[in-house]
Amino acid sequence: MTRIAVLASGRGSNFEALAAAAREGRLPVRLVLLLSDRQDAGALAIAARFGIPSAVIAPVKPRGRLDARSEERFLAACQGAGADWICLAGFMRILGPGFLAAYRDRVLNIHPSLLPAFPGLDAQGQAWAYGVRVSGCSVHLVDEGIDSGPIVLQCAVPVLAGDSAAALAARILVEEHRLYPAALARLLKEPWRREGRRLVFGSDFTTDAEGKA
Ligand code: GRF
Repeated sequence: MTRIAVLASGRGSNFEALAAAAREGRLPVRLVLLLSDRQDAGALAIAARFGIPSAVIAPVKPRGRLDARSEERFLAACQGAGADWICLAGFMRILGPGFLAAYRDRVLNIHPSLLPAFPGLDAQGQAWAYGVRVSGCSVHLVDEGIDSGPIVLQCAVPVLAGDSAAALAARILVEEHRLYPAALARLLKEPWRREGRRLVFGSDFTTDAEGKA
């Protein structure tokens, strides 16, 4: 069973969606660790409720890029728990090259917009303020940029007449909770490979001249 560590800074509803999917057998994983950079993260109580071990590693700076020492501690905790994959779920920190090299193409994130539109903070508010007619959510592999890695799955959510940023965010969140377990399940169940920025899944592999994948 694939072992997953989840990194979360806040409420933890996406972590809960992953934990519920694993418990209900919809996701072939074992959540082995919940790590947070914040003592007040709601995700910690969710971990306790699901019986998932958790720890807080408080970085030197209250926000932004992780300092090198803290990043080493996050990495050591994930490796110590035997995690095969890392899922970021509202983790408000930027991971550096050391962590990402250790988990190359094995770190996932969920972002509440149709990337590459509206990366960064308050994506739903950015989308609403811009006046787009459609937004949504994206699950992507994490690279060294901000919400810039190869996309695994996306889901569109229409902006409705009379919407507010908060109402749009709430409808996107419902889809996030469905999309994140689905994207992780797909990566674990199907063969896939990277072709540049593109993730190509089993049945879509390009065939060579002899028709072999
Ligand atoms: C979600 O909207 C997620 O897409 C974004 O941060 C938010 C975290 O919410 N990366 P929660 O902590 O999972 O409830």
